[in-house]
Amino acid sequence: MRCCYIEEFGDLDVLKIGEQPKPKVKSHEVLIQLDYAALNPVDWKISGGHLEGLLPHVFPIILGWDGAGTVVELGSEVKNVKVGDQVFAYMRKDEVHDGSFAEYIAVDAKNIVIVPKRVSTKEAASVSLTVLTAWQALFEFAELKKGQNILIHAGAGGVGTFAIQLAKSIGAHVLTTASERNFDYVTELGADSCIDYRKVDFVDAVREQCPDGVDVVFDLLGGEDLERSFVLLKKGGAMVSIVEPPREELAEQYGVKAGFVFVRPDGEQLQKVAEMLEDGRLKLPDLHEFPLSKTKEAMEMSFQRHVRGKIVIKIAE
Ligand SMILES: NC(=O)c1ccc[n+]([C@@H]2O[C@H](COP(=O)([O-])OP(=O)(O)OC[C@H]3O[C@@H](n4cnc5c(N)ncnc54)[C@H](OP(=O)(O)O)[C@@H]3O)[C@@H](O)[C@H]2O)c1
Repeated sequence: MRCCYIEEFGDLDVLKIGEQPKPKVKSHEVLIQLDYAALNPVDWKISGGHLEGLLPHVFPIILGWDGAGTVVELGSEVKNVKVGDQVFAYMRKDEVHDGSFAEYIAVDAKNIVIVPKRVSTKEAASVSLTVLTAWQALFEFAELKKGQNILIHAGAGGVGTFAIQLAKSIGAHVLTTASERNFDYVTELGADSCIDYRKVDFVDAVREQCPDGVDVVFDLLGGEDLERSFVLLKKGGAMVSIVEPPREELAEQYGVKAGFVFVRPDGEQLQKVAEMLEDGRLKLPDLHEFPLSKTKEAMEMSFQRHVRGKIVIKIAE
């Protein structure tokens, strides 16, 4: 089958478009013929070798962790879907080996969800990894509640797009950082306040708007931005990062809970997301489409860190 894979770590020149064996389906899995895959920053982090310590890697590695397509084969124990169903899923496995930048992928049936009627497979492909990340960070780790203030960094990106909407869906007050050209986009998603991090210091801007501090910071940037954000939290608040583990000394110093979330597949949460997409409570991200043959160009765009919404890869050309 045609796919995008790597045989070694390196810069984006290690990416190959070519043939790899079609995956075999285990008893609890389904084989999906993919229409579209989403590209995430994790894909160039993997090809650069930056996730080696987190998960086992087995070469050749087919990149891509989420997508959507049609079920073409069922494992013997699978009951929740049938051949011909259009499905979407967060498709990460316990080892990094076969991915969604491919014509076919075998996925654990418990992690897949039927594509909502009003959503295309192109749109559905863009959702899973980012929305589950936001869900698990905000609702599981930070336990965000109605009426609380949250600062979401990088609101215009893939995870930010869903974090803003999920926070608003439960009645939180959302402040987000974005460049001015993206203010309309994040406001449409529900952000109450936009901070142009290129023109003002976000710490000053948040302090001015929330002098008593915010309840939650969702860090999508890491480094200095993560460390400087601690000062904005109320005592008892929560700092949740998806980029790196926050320093425990800072959590103690500011009297807050702080942690790193690494998103896991969860079919039950994704089913709730599908219902929110179906009834319009969740909007889809802006999409930027590339064919599989141009995956390297798509990765270069993602690597610049200024994509609004999501990049999707069209598998069949
Ligand atoms: N731990 C996990 O499970 C997990 C899961 C998903 C993602 N992640 C990580 O989380 C990070 C974000 O992921 P993503 O998919 O949302 O990335 P993304 O879609 O590539 O984010 C791009 C966005 O970042 C914004 N941005 C760039 N620099 C900024 C800054 N200094 N301040 C505010 N906004 C800034 C850009 O907005 P402007 O153009 O307006 O600047 C752009 O819209 C990545 O490092 C990714 O690997 C981790």
